[in-house]
Amino acid sequence: MKWQGLINKYKEYLPVSNKTPIVSLNEGNTPLIFAPHISSLIGEKIKVFLKYEGLNPTGSFKDRGMTMAISKALEDGAHAVMCASTGNTSASAAAYSARAGLKCIVLIPKGAIALGKLAQALIHKAHVIAIDGNFDDALTLVKEITNKYPVTLVNSLNPYRIEGQTTGAYEVCDQLGSPPDILSIPVGNAGNITAYWKGFKRYQEAGKIESLPKMLGFQAAGAAPIVNKKIIEDPKTIATAIKIGNPASWQSAEAARDESNGLIDSVTDEEILNAYKILSSKEGVFVEPASAASVAGILKLAQNNYFTENDEYNIVCVLTGHGLKDPDRAIKSIEEPVIIPAKVESVLKEIGFE
Ligand code: F0G
Repeated sequence: MKWQGLINKYKEYLPVSNKTPIVSLNEGNTPLIFAPHISSLIGEKIKVFLKYEGLNPTGSFKDRGMTMAISKALEDGAHAVMCASTGNTSASAAAYSARAGLKCIVLIPKGAIALGKLAQALIHKAHVIAIDGNFDDALTLVKEITNKYPVTLVNSLNPYRIEGQTTGAYEVCDQLGSPPDILSIPVGNAGNITAYWKGFKRYQEAGKIESLPKMLGFQAAGAAPIVNKKIIEDPKTIATAIKIGNPASWQSAEAARDESNGLIDSVTDEEILNAYKILSSKEGVFVEPASAASVAGILKLAQNNYFTENDEYNIVCVLTGHGLKDPDRAIKSIEEPVIIPAKVESVLKEIGFE
């Protein structure tokens, strides 16, 4: 049957009814891509797969939660929604609100949003407000306002966001034909690691899978409150999507880590950029820097001999957002093309065919 979005596909696992007006852009069903080069860097018997969430309608995994949050907001009679964002949540909220005819207000940290994401929120006609503060400050303001005024919060503190994002776990299991042994995922506000773990556990309870994966979460080294066990007042990283110092779902991320016998570690900006370049130049997969943290993390662990088992096993890395979201970072990471005369001889000389 034609794909009609993830609520339609997984409604038996989601808090929706026949009365829920489903707002969908046919999100979900993103490819799970085998990564031969990265697999070879990790270990002989290990297969690494990439869950390419950048291929959702607005270019990030946020659409999974947003189709649920906006559908339920509409069902509950809301007129306006609001979020704080490092960019992707606002892009997704703006698009789904446009579709639903809801007013969308977004608070972003001034100067810290990748260009593509800002363009998305604006083109979908959200009311975009930049604050002189970071993401954590923006979220504090949004929580206070949505508590007092008739505006629905659509950050991942909204339980429907997490519910929608559980579908990432169902899809990974359905696509692999079994649960992965390990799931590697970037951690920012910690909603997605929470959602995947909830999804895997729910799929197990439903008898769809037998075992559960180990959850490996990765924060950027300059924005690693869970790893450092303390709030980071002034987080710093080139991976702006996960530049967060006080994650909303801190405790449930720790629970996912501990219950799955996994870990939450940090990766430096250098490690993130290295993985970003390996993904684009060796696997043909273009992601935004934050997404590369999941691959950077397993490369780091492989160097420290974390993967010692002799059995064959599968690792799934969640690649949360598309590379075109952050064109400035891409341009900083490449060499500018040469400019030559428009002549056959010049082209042949340039490519070494003279
Ligand atoms: N990767 C990308 C591309 C993101 O945009 C985010 C979060 C994460 C990873 C981390 O996911 O917060 O569930 O742990 N972006 C949020 C936003 C904060 O506002 O777009 P998380």
